[in-house]
Amino acid sequence: MGKRNILVTGGLGFIGSHTVLCLDAAGYNPIIIDNLHNSRIEVLDALESLLGYRPTYVQGDVNDAALLNGLFVSHQPEAVIHFAAHKAVGESVENPLMYYHNNVVGLITLLDAMKSNGCHKMVFSSSCTVYGEPESVPVNESTPTRPAASPYGATKQMAEVILKDNTWCEVQCLRYFNPVGAHPTAKIGELPLGVPNNLIPYLTQTVAGIREQLTVYGSDYPTADGTCIRDYIHVMDLAEAHVAAIDRLFLSNKSAETLLGDPSTDVFEVFNIGTGVGYSVLEVIQAFENATGKKVNYILGNRRPGDVVAVWADTEKVNQVLGWSAKRDLTTMMKDAWHWQENC
Ligand code: WQD
Repeated sequence: MGKRNILVTGGLGFIGSHTVLCLDAAGYNPIIIDNLHNSRIEVLDALESLLGYRPTYVQGDVNDAALLNGLFVSHQPEAVIHFAAHKAVGESVENPLMYYHNNVVGLITLLDAMKSNGCHKMVFSSSCTVYGEPESVPVNESTPTRPAASPYGATKQMAEVILKDNTWCEVQCLRYFNPVGAHPTAKIGELPLGVPNNLIPYLTQTVAGIREQLTVYGSDYPTADGTCIRDYIHVMDLAEAHVAAIDRLFLSNKSAETLLGDPSTDVFEVFNIGTGVGYSVLEVIQAFENATGKKVNYILGNRRPGDVVAVWADTEKVNQVLGWSAKRDLTTMMKDAWHWQENC
């Protein structure tokens, strides 16, 4: 039997590009669509050098129904990994309509194309943002979602509802925590397009002298050292989780119609994809300095609106059901993030 084609939307992005490598290693054939809004064509060149062949790539947007339909007809993907979405919390506050068009209408357009071409399997890129400010940590998949703190978070919550309701489609919904780091070769990583919103790229650009100083957003939170706590996960671990989810989708060789008729089968499964360990901002800075021997120039500044105090994952479900757990520690994340910064 030939390789299964997997359509990877946003496949030239940070997580998408690392997942393309892991799909290939697992024997799948990734088909990439990306509009280059948050990536560069050079990522495709890097993937070619890592894969030994140039993966199939189509420049385009998930809101382009005709293009999507043509992709399904010509490549017959058996599943989709849907990364393509805007993901900057601050930007979503400034331009909510752009986020609803891209993240919600884009998903609906993609689902229309999947349904009309008989593709019933999706791995969806969700986010721990859907938990809002959790009442207790760690959060598990049954932790109630809270009102989103941003339009970005709201689009992820809406997307999960849309996917839950479309029971003709088997969905593995992956709620990411904080993706960081880069491929160990440093040939791919988190592209520095514009001023970084996220902690790690801002930190590494500060150490590289591109940014003058890192501001720690808030040191008066009710945590041990006063700074926010997050569950940072290596992008390679996150990519490997997507392959585990794709494998699971092909395990259930029932058709969607059969699944529909079988109430015991949940066609919408949610998994927290984190390490299960939370680190504060100051602990991350310390870990970076210990891992690289580089000093981080930072100041303690004011809180950033929209930040939650602390969120990290209970990973029991993904460990048990997908047989996946994160393998790379914070030191490795910091080393690979710095190696990427030095080379990008
Ligand atoms: C982490 C911590 C900041 C920058 C967001 C999305 C999430 C995911 C990752 C997509 C916070 C602090 C940050 C800085 C700082 N997106 N910080 N100085 O906000 O936890 O998560 O990005 O998958 O869905 O919500 O990530 O890296 O922006 O912030 O002190 O210059 O670092 O206050 O405590 P966040 P982040």
